Amino acid sequence: MIEVAKRLHTVEEYYFSKKLREVGLLIASGKPIINLGIGSPDLQPPQKVVDAITASFNNPVAHKYQSYQGLPELREAMSAFYKNHFSVSVNAANEILPLMGSKEGIMHISMAYLNEGDEVLIPNPGYPTYQSVTQLVGAKGVLYNLDAANNWMPNLEVLEKQDLSNVKLMWVNYPHMPTGAAPTETVFKELVAFGKRHNILIVNDNPYSFVLNDNPKSILSVDGAKEVCLELNSLSKTFNMAGWRVGMVLGNSGHISNILKVKSNMDSGMFYGIQKGAVEALKCSKMWFVTLNSVYKRRRDLVWQLAEALNCTYDKNATGMFVWAKLPAYLKSEEFIDVVLKENHIFITPGTIFGSQGEGYIRFSLCASTEILEEAIARVK
Ligand SMILES: Cc1ncc(COP(=O)(O)O)c(C=O)c1O
Repeated sequence: MIEVAKRLHTVEEYYFSKKLREVGLLIASGKPIINLGIGSPDLQPPQKVVDAITASFNNPVAHKYQSYQGLPELREAMSAFYKNHFSVSVNAANEILPLMGSKEGIMHISMAYLNEGDEVLIPNPGYPTYQSVTQLVGAKGVLYNLDAANNWMPNLEVLEKQDLSNVKLMWVNYPHMPTGAAPTETVFKELVAFGKRHNILIVNDNPYSFVLNDNPKSILSVDGAKEVCLELNSLSKTFNMAGWRVGMVLGNSGHISNILKVKSNMDSGMFYGIQKGAVEALKCSKMWFVTLNSVYKRRRDLVWQLAEALNCTYDKNATGMFVWAKLPAYLKSEEFIDVVLKENHIFITPGTIFGSQGEGYIRFSLCASTEILEEAIARVK
């Protein structure tokens, strides 16, 4: 019997990996399941992105190992994207590292900065990967609670009453998943100041800026942010390219070279054609977002109707690719979604997978067509 590493006992298989197997069995047994669980865009990327990868196949360099830092052209495109959409200057030579999706960046950053026993501030509710990666590297997650009363923003006053001396890193994710809460400039400024006061690396995970959000913001737009902040971004949701695996981490050159030390030991570059496609995506005009969001807006109107049919309430000001809905007071998230799965054959994500603060909430994905959403409403009604 070969024993697994102790770190494997600190994590469990990802919720969706398990639950989608269950949903898959229901589908295989003939049940007409509507999946509103996972946020995997069903819309197509821009055509020129597909044309760019197709054209790349006949380029002899396409099949070779690629640069650890990505094509200079890709870093230039990422830098121009940050300038155009966030008014943030990042040096393409040394302040950007392309990633295979922002998810892997969570591991690289953690491996670059965390020692065993270091503490990490993690949002509750929040993306589960922050906690699992923290555990895999032997650090200690310290949850900070977010709640509707504070519009899901961190309460730094409360945090400062805690002993922060072992805290090395803080994950923030604005616009926030799962709640859709959008940041204000003040919140970002306060976070930067907090990071400086306590010598904590603040990492904003920012993959949802362009979905149903009129005012995309980057934490790097705050004066002096690069001293203590990194930002992750991604093409997954912005350009419907989740399966392509393209993301980026941005920050000062010292931080980026530390992350490169880890990453260059883990992979050997991103496929050339994917990089060429990503360059085309990043060059899209603002019209791309207008068109994308007109589709998501129609879908969100229907999901609001579905939420109401299920007696849930929600915040119409929330942004992003999900609707975060509150259940009637006496109901529990996981029991509720199991009943809806069994009776209506609709899969919705229970809020509890994002932490205890998600109890009493469910999350609907907008990655389903209007026809499917109308069918879901009809089933519930
Ligand atoms: C908050 C958050 N961060 C990061 C990711 C990872 O995105 P990707 O690796 O596709 O860029 C997701 C994906 O669902 C997410 O919800």
